[in-house]
Amino acid sequence: MKKFSVVIAGGGSTFTPGIVMMLLDNQDRFPLRTLKLYDNDEERQKTLGDALAILLREQAPEIDFSYTTDPEAAFSDVDFCMAHIRVGKYAMREKDEKVPLRHGVFGQETCGPGGIAYGMRSITGMLEIIDYMEKYSPECWMLNYSNPAAIVAEACRVLRPDSKVLNICDMPVGTLRRMSQIVGKTPAELEVRYFGLNHFGWWTSVKDKSGHEYIDQIRDYVAENGYLTQVEVDTQHTDPSWQETHRKAKDLLAVAPDYLPNTYLKYYLYPDYVLDHMMEHPEYTRSNEVMENREKHVFDHAKKITAQGSAEGIAFEIDAHASFIVDLARAIAFNTHERMVMIVENNGAIANFPDDAMVEVPCIVGNDGPEALTQGIIPQFQQALMFQQVTVEKLVVEAYAENSYQKMWQALTLSKTVPSAQVAKELLDDLISENGDYWPELH
Ligand code: NAD
Ligand code: G6P
Ligand code: MN
Repeated sequence: MKKFSVVIAGGGSTFTPGIVMMLLDNQDRFPLRTLKLYDNDEERQKTLGDALAILLREQAPEIDFSYTTDPEAAFSDVDFCMAHIRVGKYAMREKDEKVPLRHGVFGQETCGPGGIAYGMRSITGMLEIIDYMEKYSPECWMLNYSNPAAIVAEACRVLRPDSKVLNICDMPVGTLRRMSQIVGKTPAELEVRYFGLNHFGWWTSVKDKSGHEYIDQIRDYVAENGYLTQVEVDTQHTDPSWQETHRKAKDLLAVAPDYLPNTYLKYYLYPDYVLDHMMEHPEYTRSNEVMENREKHVFDHAKKITAQGSAEGIAFEIDAHASFIVDLARAIAFNTHERMVMIVENNGAIANFPDDAMVEVPCIVGNDGPEALTQGIIPQFQQALMFQQVTVEKLVVEAYAENSYQKMWQALTLSKTVPSAQVAKELLDDLISENGDYWPELH
């Protein structure tokens, strides 16, 4: 079997160890000859890199492992780049969540003003790693988790149209795990139909391979419990704030009961509720929860491995997030034609939606990348919401490309999460000053 060379960009990410463990678990299905980590933060990279070097020496000495902050070393001779960078790191995520609160708007990593601010930062970092990849390994595929995926995907479509970048999100995969638990199946036994934008979509069908439809059964359950499940199968989304989000899905379903909602719709359908909730503890948001839990946990684990010089008895967790990206690499490498929900240019997949919108739909994935499956005509309620949101995402990318203050103001004004053009302008000025050099200059 052919062996592959992989670089993980954002090698200092809290998700890196999980992906490395999943890669090791898949050596019979997706064998590696080389594994590299690349980050532009030397210290974060070294902490995880030293620990993973020990772990690989013990568990997979045949893989040539290294870590680096040098783009040429990182991106030379690679077949796949698994990317998950966070431009500005947790310090800036905290601002994305807290700055909007000063203006009476909720703050979130990928939705509303926080997501827009993060988008402006991410585009620069993404273009940088795409250009490194194309310079040093022109045949390489980038499988990208870096958020906000909707804006990043639109930026790739517009600014790097010929690049081999595939943008993905683990939320449909994590939620499918929950659905499978609800109906007593495994995720692999289920096939879905789904339409939307990233963090903005609906399931229209969840069937097993014999064609039995479960959507009514799941709807009845979600109407009562949201996506809270008896057994924690979606191990990635378990902190208290996530449980609250899964529960809230029942109120999302109530608004449009025909289809099963993505949990992220809570930010667009119930922004007042999210804001009230955040204002109970405005100093403690999701970034604080992650820094205290996942980030601390992952980095403490790594330091322990390095201190004892062995990974024995210290395990990193693996979850749906890691399995999805490894399955995607396999699908491309071995032309498996697996069905996966991905973010792709619409081109008719949703019949009554613009061709040039980046949408999230099921695709068949093989050697040449994803082929979208058509989802037909969608109802006007969802179409209207999506049209407003996709226009926000397009305006952000145009603002970035044209250094346009005006378009950024329009993007914030159009976001369903911002009450007026006045608030949008005050927010924009605050975000400009808080983001400093992370943003292009707008005028
Ligand atoms: P993190 O801050 O722990 O890790 C991100 C790493 O990226 C950091 O080590 C940082 O130094 C590095 N980085 C920043 N800019 C860089 C650049 N230009 N070049 C190279 N490295 C750079 O963050 P995290 O919580 O582990 O999340 C990582 C990313 O994955 C985020 O963008 C997050 O939103 C995303 N994510 C996406 C999904 C999805 O569904 N698409 C799911 C989970 C996480
Ligand atoms: C889900 C989403 C990601 C997002 C993540 C945030 O997995 O699909 O796009 O980055 O949640 O999770 P966190 O645990 O960092 O708040
Ligand atoms: Mn996501």
